[in-house]
Amino acid sequence: MNDKYNALRSNVSTLGHLLGNTIKAAHGEELLDKVEEIRQLSKSAAAGNDDDRDKLIDVLQQLPNDQLLPVARAFSQFLNLTNIAEQFHTTSRHCDKQVCNPDSIDALFERLQQSDVSETDTDKAVEDLKIELVLTAHPTEVARRTTIHKLVQINKCLSQLELSDISSQERASTELRLEQLIAQSWHSDEIRQQRPTPVDEARWGYAVIENSLWQAVPDFIRQFDQKLEQNRGYKLPIDAAPVQISSWMGGDRDGNPFVTHAITREVLLLARWKAADLFLQDIQALNNELSMVKANDEVNALADGAHEPYRHILRELRTLLSNTLDVLHAQLNDQPAPSVPVLTETDQLWQPLHAIYQSLHECGMGIIADGCLLDTLRRVQCFGINLIKLDIRQESTRHANALAEVTRYLGMGDYSQWSEQDKQAFLIRELSSQRPLLPLKWTPSDEVQEVLNTCRTIAEQPREALGSYVISMARTASDVLAVHLLLKEAGCQFRMDVCPLFETLDDLNNAESVIKQLLNIDWYRGFIQNFQMVMIGYSDSAKDAGVMSAGWAQYKAMEALVSVCEESGVDLVLFHGRGGTIGRGGAPAHAALLSQPPKSLKGGLRVTEQGEMIRFKLGLPEVAVNSLNMYTSAILEANLLPPPEPKQHWRERMDALSDISCDAYRSIVRGHKDFVPYFRAATPELELGKLPLGSRPSKRNPKGGVESLRAIPWIFAWSQNRLLLPAWLGAGQAIQHVIDQGHLAELEEMCREWPFFSTRLGMLEMVYTKTSLSTSKYYDEKLVPSSLWSLGETLRSRLNNDIRAVLMVENSDHLMEQDPWGAEAIRLRNIYVEPLSMLQAELLSRTRAEENPTPELDNTLMVTIAGIAAGLRNTG
Ligand code: PGA
Repeated sequence: MNDKYNALRSNVSTLGHLLGNTIKAAHGEELLDKVEEIRQLSKSAAAGNDDDRDKLIDVLQQLPNDQLLPVARAFSQFLNLTNIAEQFHTTSRHCDKQVCNPDSIDALFERLQQSDVSETDTDKAVEDLKIELVLTAHPTEVARRTTIHKLVQINKCLSQLELSDISSQERASTELRLEQLIAQSWHSDEIRQQRPTPVDEARWGYAVIENSLWQAVPDFIRQFDQKLEQNRGYKLPIDAAPVQISSWMGGDRDGNPFVTHAITREVLLLARWKAADLFLQDIQALNNELSMVKANDEVNALADGAHEPYRHILRELRTLLSNTLDVLHAQLNDQPAPSVPVLTETDQLWQPLHAIYQSLHECGMGIIADGCLLDTLRRVQCFGINLIKLDIRQESTRHANALAEVTRYLGMGDYSQWSEQDKQAFLIRELSSQRPLLPLKWTPSDEVQEVLNTCRTIAEQPREALGSYVISMARTASDVLAVHLLLKEAGCQFRMDVCPLFETLDDLNNAESVIKQLLNIDWYRGFIQNFQMVMIGYSDSAKDAGVMSAGWAQYKAMEALVSVCEESGVDLVLFHGRGGTIGRGGAPAHAALLSQPPKSLKGGLRVTEQGEMIRFKLGLPEVAVNSLNMYTSAILEANLLPPPEPKQHWRERMDALSDISCDAYRSIVRGHKDFVPYFRAATPELELGKLPLGSRPSKRNPKGGVESLRAIPWIFAWSQNRLLLPAWLGAGQAIQHVIDQGHLAELEEMCREWPFFSTRLGMLEMVYTKTSLSTSKYYDEKLVPSSLWSLGETLRSRLNNDIRAVLMVENSDHLMEQDPWGAEAIRLRNIYVEPLSMLQAELLSRTRAEENPTPELDNTLMVTIAGIAAGLRNTG
């Protein structure tokens, strides 16, 4: 690898060396030698030495029982350490341009200056900038919180060691600390013993805010402000809130029976508690700093003429915040709350702090005002007293069932049997009516009661505490109206944004018509106040139709929605439900945003951040600042220098590619008689259920088959055997088909000129690089009945052909030619992933052969699952 990665390599090898020391101390030299032997064999096998591959398999098969776990842990922990070194590298002083682009905003401003974009347009785009990150509890984070905590500390040590003027004594003590942290990890369980509850998940989300975003958001705004001043000569207004944090943790009840209305209430209280706690720390720090005496009239009046007026005001705030903490604490513990004044509105913080800010400026102390106080003011705007905005999510049928129960009870017939037209007519009538629909003396079923209670819980909250109500598996306009009606019946006094989530191929194709129907309803138009949010589901549509077809349907749906809303004068916010992996819509932020249709980011960006991606992208303040920079530059670029509209013939070609790839995908996943048994045998799908990753069950319907399996375990399972099937199946085949029809030149043109298409190919390349034909074959041999082998052979040979087709369109000799750093990172990790895969196949075959596998075997299997996930850098 190139010299410029030396700093990274040296960190990886330091950490590896320290891990080696730990293993030796814990298990002796013999085990360390074994690990090293396995590593060397894997390296040589990766370089093409088949004899060494056979030897590697042999060594792993011969491992005595007591060595299985430590060997698996060694490789798994090494991969975690590599991730840390890489993450650190993105913020390190030695970071190379190819790895990180810290000046992406400056670079954009430069390009804007050379373009014909007017300054007014640029300033308007800056003014409208909105990044809303929605933290979800999606079960894709394998690492335990305690592990993450240690990894964060390791990162800190690496940044200490990087300082050129570090003394030898400081170096020695930092290295010692590193070794201690690595030893702490080694001697702790890496697999959770118990499933987290939804409240645990919410606490975890709040910890990310406390440990990273609380610092990162004002840091990012400060840096952005400086860039604006340098490039455009002005600053952001003091009340700008370009970043908002929302959450699904404890609010997303779709397929998760553990998220109840009581849980939602609890996580909302907890969020307010955490916000009060964090603001109290801020106020305390400000109280230590703002001992100045001179103030303007407003502040003097607020401070009742106190000698140190700022402190006087801050102390009052401090009392208010501690009262708030006491009251919330009592509410959280079902105790009687003290009767004291508390914070109920963000303005109670904003007004006095803003007055202080202005006074300091007016009295010649702007330099002081623009320090910590400015950061706190930014936080007040971005987080407010609720810390986050909580979204609620529920599946469409749950609302329809609730209405069906009511209409049956009232003798009106069965809502669920009515035509869409009748449903809409009924809903509009009820929405416009003054009289309540829900009968007083009615006892609904438990499921329906829960839906109603959730709506009541929403109605009890202040509007600012909530984000939107997302309807998963939304299909029709009545799905949206139904939620509005249930909220009205619950007495909701404010306008909750109800956001349909379109997440199958058909539903995406139908999204435009649904929104059009809604916008044609007078009641609806009046109610929504010209604002509509629509969520695009990336994973389920890919699970339904394959990545190529889903990607094009998402694009077309967004494009159509943009134009429908534009025609009606409605502001549209598209909410992207992307996962980390490519099969779930994941892609580097910049490429992903630039490959969206023109104008689709006009309303800002609202996007889910899930599981391990929260850690990778937002887990440390410096890393989070980089991510926010990246989002900012991409949104501004997409709005100011939009990607080209696709030419008509590109569209037609994409339609064809989409149809062919969807057929190719479905003919296997739905149509091949061996597919389901093959999937169950060749991947650890069933065993994954034992991994206590998140609070929600892995299936919507516990008795259902692959169709009811959620997208996350679907992708997760296929990544473990390194076939990564859902992330590529159908796409390359469609491309080859179109090449065979003589359209190679056109595909090349699309690849050169159309970011949507080139990004798709780039993502395919990344997936191909992560696959391993030999590993997948090995899984088949160990785990799949021979009668099903031919399906595995077919899939692998398709994969090979697909790779050739994509390379041909890109005129490349190798995969990821444009991203040598990314390719190298994957190759490096593969050396450590490979032994874990082989071990996993071995363990799967052993545990499947036994009726009651020992807990040690199961635990080792879980470690391999977690390790492979760390090696591929994403799970679901
Ligand atoms: P969902 O998300 O199953 O919660 O809809 C899928 C995903 O994020 O991949």
